[in-house]
Amino acid sequence: MQGMGKIKIAPSILAADFSCLLEEIKKIEEEADLLHIDIMDGHFVPNITFGPEVLRLLKKEVHLPFDVHLMVEYPERWIEPFREIGCESLTIHVEAAVHLDRVVGLIKSNGMKSGVALNPATPVCFLDYVLSKLDTVLLMTVNPGFGAQSFIPEVLPKIQTMHAIIEKKNLNLDIAVDGGINENTAFQVIEKGASILIMGTSIFGNTDPRKAIINLKSKIEGRKEDTGGSHPFEENGSK
Ligand code: DX5
Ligand code: ZN
Repeated sequence: MQGMGKIKIAPSILAADFSCLLEEIKKIEEEADLLHIDIMDGHFVPNITFGPEVLRLLKKEVHLPFDVHLMVEYPERWIEPFREIGCESLTIHVEAAVHLDRVVGLIKSNGMKSGVALNPATPVCFLDYVLSKLDTVLLMTVNPGFGAQSFIPEVLPKIQTMHAIIEKKNLNLDIAVDGGINENTAFQVIEKGASILIMGTSIFGNTDPRKAIINLKSKIEGRKEDTGGSHPFEENGSK
């Protein structure tokens, strides 16, 4: 497997039961590495989720790092509000940022990890001149806007290309994947170099979401041992 660092699991609350969101998050809090939170504005994507106030309330009760995925137009307008809440990382879409370098700089100067997401059809070269300023590249494996969609396999070579560029430039950043990640596709994306698995339906759609993470982790661990690679859940050089 290509990814030598720790594989991080980021449950996406889009697939949780919104009527008892905190309860749902508590089910996965111990086992997850990050909490993935999709913010949709009904313009950049044809769906609406929640705004900063919901996150402000959750932040008081949840100890996981908040990994905010902004699927909105004018992402620069939301940096300050999410920073004030204490969100640890903010990912914007390259397709929504006219002044990408400026917005990435604003995220960094506000003390958050910066991520840029690419829709399935957007090539990795869009990041050529901003890559060294990022902490995460999020490669969408579905078209953004909804949960429970099918994984788009055409993104696999894109993950591999991105991974090769990162290695060549000797950069320390994660490749995250989002959409249709389950026990099968998880292995395909890890093989290509993904290190953060964002998973909605395959975790919260499970009767025991905590167990779903534990099972996946042990399968990844087992596969890594089979292939003689380094242990994916040890901190060996990853951030
Ligand atoms: C889709 C969102 C994802 C979504 C993934 O636009 O960005 O985070 O929750 O859901 P699943 O894992 O169900 O495909
Ligand atoms: Zn997302």
